[in-house]
Amino acid sequence: MYQDQAMQESIRRVEAARAENVKLDPRRMTAEEKETLLATYHPDYRQDQFEVLKMGPNQGDKVPVELAALLQANSRIAGKQIDLSRPDYDVDVLIIGGGGAGASAAIEADNGGAKVLVVTKLRMGDANTMMAEGGIQAADKANDSPAQHFLDAFGGGHFAAQKDLLYKLVTEAPDAIHWLSDLGVEFDKAPDGTMITTHGGGTSRKRMHAAKDYSGAEIMRTLRDEVLNRGIPVVDFTAAIELIKDEKGQCAGAVLQNMETGQLLIARARTLVIATGGAGRLHYQGFPTSNHYGATADGLILGYRAGAKLLYPDTLQYHPTGAAFPAQIFGALVTEKVRSLGAMLINVHGEAFMNPLETRDVSAASIIRECTDRGNGVKTPEGSAVWLDTPMIEIKNGPGTIEKRIPAMMRMFGKYGIDIRREPILVYPTLHYQNGGLKISSNGMTEIENLFVAGEAVGGIHGRNRLMGNSLLDIIVFGRNAGRNAAAKAKDVTAGALTLAHVEAFQRELAQAGIETGTVSPKLLPDYTRKA
Ligand code: FUM
Repeated sequence: MYQDQAMQESIRRVEAARAENVKLDPRRMTAEEKETLLATYHPDYRQDQFEVLKMGPNQGDKVPVELAALLQANSRIAGKQIDLSRPDYDVDVLIIGGGGAGASAAIEADNGGAKVLVVTKLRMGDANTMMAEGGIQAADKANDSPAQHFLDAFGGGHFAAQKDLLYKLVTEAPDAIHWLSDLGVEFDKAPDGTMITTHGGGTSRKRMHAAKDYSGAEIMRTLRDEVLNRGIPVVDFTAAIELIKDEKGQCAGAVLQNMETGQLLIARARTLVIATGGAGRLHYQGFPTSNHYGATADGLILGYRAGAKLLYPDTLQYHPTGAAFPAQIFGALVTEKVRSLGAMLINVHGEAFMNPLETRDVSAASIIRECTDRGNGVKTPEGSAVWLDTPMIEIKNGPGTIEKRIPAMMRMFGKYGIDIRREPILVYPTLHYQNGGLKISSNGMTEIENLFVAGEAVGGIHGRNRLMGNSLLDIIVFGRNAGRNAAAKAKDVTAGALTLAHVEAFQRELAQAGIETGTVSPKLLPDYTRKA
């Protein structure tokens, strides 16, 4: 319910223009227009928000200031005596993280005959996977191909994706859908049983497979059931706070911390998979986030301190349509599916100011421009926003479409008295995804022997911008890949004596670089306590 008078007046203009706007197909921006727009308005280009790293594998590279503070921070075990001689857990494959990538890795490592352990700082399934809405891409229709999928993603990512990783992503996508479907994921289907697929921003074919607008929850539900049904051990509320190596420099385990008691535990493992997800809860540049509570870039910190390199740590994804009103859902995801079903982005005057299916970085920058320099935003208690004209969906697709295809959106706004079938909603970019992360080869392993990574903690699969639906896809493709390869590699590992010498060396390097900091990392949880 919009009680503010200025909002009501703007809604009247949106309603008056709707019949004309709904017929429009605003032109796409040229490459030059996009470049200028991004350089001027996209948060990744705000130089004062980045810092050059003084130490570590990426010394000399720039990263967001909030991440720099954690990468160049003290270890949680600095100065502590840790006894590595009697591990609490001894496994073949240790998986750090209980989201979609970790679960997929666990299932495949189990298939590979490995003794697997999953540790997760919250509970199995408390992860960005669970919060994903719009869908998962796969080129499995007759008018589409993995080559087409590759071209869309490569262009959308500014031609920066690691080609071998992207090749793997798109060529294994159809099999990922089969696998999920066989495990029990209930994808949306037409009466004849064929999968319903839609467009996302930057896709040249309809290849988005969805389970209404709770695709991630449906996938996570299925994967979690599979892990638990197989009896794969999962230790909840237990964070990895440091990696352990052996005397040969191979990764060989992790120091764990019970999140409730603070007790430290030691896990020895022949191979490890970091699947710790994203970083939205670092709230880069003060943005709200669509991410789950535990998204604090922990895997990047663990890997970095152990000597693993980051790729594109300076590029983040701001989802164009975070909820901007009411305050209770500020920053929550409004799925891109709303736009793929036909809702358009409209400014305060009722004008459709852009094509709603530009790629995400371009859409976000365009909304920021509309609300800042152009002064065409709608004032909100939190700042400024634009309309997403949801009633257009039913004009274009028929009555009942919203309830059938995006029921979670309808419920989320309905709780606050906004009926998205009849009223537009206010949106503004929200911090959504970490494009960069730890560098891996196509087998999923970092440059540190026996250390694998999967999911959002990986950098380079998508380049410098990710298309919708390629993240749910990468957690499956690269989660399975890491689990399979970690299990196979574990068979040949002969670990030496365990050591934390690299942590001591990192502490010395901090001092040599002149970094004096009271910050400890990984952060583990965001801090929302009110500061005096
Ligand atoms: O808009 C969305 O539903 C988000 C999807 C994604 O990040 O892939």
